[in-house]
Amino acid sequence: MKAIVYRGPYDVAVEDRPEPTIEGPLDAIVRITTTNICGSDLHMYEGRTSVEKGKILGHENMGVVEAVGDGLTRIKVGDRVSVPFNIACGTCRNCTAGWTSFCLRTNPTEGMDGAAYGYANMGPYDGGQAELLRVPFADVNLLQLPPGSELENDFTLLSDIFPTGYHGAELAGVAPGDSVAVFGAGPVGLLAAYSSLLEGAARVFVADKEKDRLALAAGIGAEPVDLAAGDPVDQITEATGGRGVDRGIEAVGYQAHDPTGEEHPEMVLDSLVALVRSTGGIGVVGVYMPEDPGAANALAKEGRYAFQYGTFFTKGQTMGTGQCPVARYNRHLRDLIVSGRARPSFIVSHELSLDEAPDAYKRFDKREDGYTKVLLHPGA
Ligand SMILES: NC(=O)c1ccc[n+]([C@@H]2O[C@H](COP(=O)([O-])OP(=O)(O)OC[C@H]3O[C@@H](n4cnc5c(N)ncnc54)[C@H](O)[C@@H]3O)[C@@H](O)[C@H]2O)c1
Ligand SMILES: [Zn+2]
Ligand SMILES: [Zn+2]
Repeated sequence: MKAIVYRGPYDVAVEDRPEPTIEGPLDAIVRITTTNICGSDLHMYEGRTSVEKGKILGHENMGVVEAVGDGLTRIKVGDRVSVPFNIACGTCRNCTAGWTSFCLRTNPTEGMDGAAYGYANMGPYDGGQAELLRVPFADVNLLQLPPGSELENDFTLLSDIFPTGYHGAELAGVAPGDSVAVFGAGPVGLLAAYSSLLEGAARVFVADKEKDRLALAAGIGAEPVDLAAGDPVDQITEATGGRGVDRGIEAVGYQAHDPTGEEHPEMVLDSLVALVRSTGGIGVVGVYMPEDPGAANALAKEGRYAFQYGTFFTKGQTMGTGQCPVARYNRHLRDLIVSGRARPSFIVSHELSLDEAPDAYKRFDKREDGYTKVLLHPGA
């Protein structure tokens, strides 16, 4: 089968790989209809992770079940499914508490709880930017979708970034009437803003420097804040009559940079601590790493991020962090799509074949104008 393979920094290619097979009774094989490129894939693409060469990338997958192991009782051949990026056993202490993103059994990597497809440090699993994908513990992990092909571009966002954006709002504690500041207008930030509005926020600010992405934020009723026009803390403070906001969402991660492109990994955390009112909540879904040899400063190389912890403490703020437990939210979000109350596909900018993926990685990595969210259709 065709698959997108990581060969080294700034080098991904289409390769011919053996088709995956059922390896255990709880496995399923999914024929991929849509698989997305994620901002998280760019951390690997840029050589800023320890991902091994030869890994098939892709953790945002959906498709149709093609084969099932003997032990499955729920999932059947022919089911149209969304595949959460988390690989969960469904039975360990964290999984049974709803924290499938920190499964204790599926990731053999020392010191890491939680597994994923096609991702650095997240276990030996290949990704789904390919024609077929093996899904372990398929009864636990797969979300069934209405059959057919309608709403494909909405449903494909259920494997990661719609739940992840929603998780950002949950970690921040967004409630009806709240004001919210979202940093990052990438797919995750845009869907965090969208989720905050779904949850009843009164005002949502979205800060970034990419004008095309800020325009998408404005399109859903959020208030764009252009980093190029000055310090976002000053802009949002002024827009709120000096009060700041109730909630903050970090949707940028450890490669946060100023408008010139220079990295300052702590700058977004500092801005959120400054902007969120005392006792308010901050949800961090942008990724930070325990070590980052490519970091801009010595501390960040060791995973130490020198943000304004003193003010964070003094204001009595709370902060929630980490990978999203997709299964906690994906059923609800699917049903909002089915009922027509949510249409997250407003972020989709490109639909391409696998052969076009290497070029798309290059352009998406440059945040070329108009490259917001790239979907790949392996069958196309
Ligand atoms: N926690 C999770 O489960 C989870 C899941 C998916 C993605 N992520 C992470 O979420 C983050 C965003 O993902 P994405 O797909 O939207 O990525 P993306 O790279 O497309 O978007 C990031 C955006 O942040 C902007 N940005 C950079 N510095 C900024 C700053 N100082 N202030 C404001 N904006 C700034 C960039 O211009 C870009 O538009 C990444 O770190 C990704 O790894 C986390
Ligand atoms: Zn993703
Ligand atoms: Zn588990």
